[in-house]
Amino acid sequence: MNRPILDHIGIAVNDINAALELYRDKLGFEVGGIDEVPGFGVKVAFLPLGEGQVELVMPVTEDSAIAKFLDKRGPGLHHLCFRVDDIRAELASLEKKGIELVDKEPREGAHGTLVAFLHPKSTGGVLIELAQKT
Ligand code: CO
Repeated sequence: MNRPILDHIGIAVNDINAALELYRDKLGFEVGGIDEVPGFGVKVAFLPLGEGQVELVMPVTEDSAIAKFLDKRGPGLHHLCFRVDDIRAELASLEKKGIELVDKEPREGAHGTLVAFLHPKSTGGVLIELAQKT
């Protein structure tokens, strides 16, 4: 990857409205948009932060990865997302470098983005998402 750009920081929450009371009402963030992402079984809120965003992620299905994460670890920091121009090329290149991929093929994320996750086993315990705007 050439000089990664932070797209957003993903935070797992049990209740997006309670989280908005903190981020919007107490910390002063603006709310960019709230969307459901059916492919991931989540509802997300994007809050602009500098050139990037904070993404609050709440599960809407019990079998979503985020529901399992909350069960195991509770709410908190969940992932970092880097913006890329060509997600398929990045995934192929990272795999060649020995990075384990959660998603070999990009999936549809919020706002028509293509996204894919790298396995935290091969990234020092940090869940990393790549996103390409389409
Ligand atoms: Co994300």
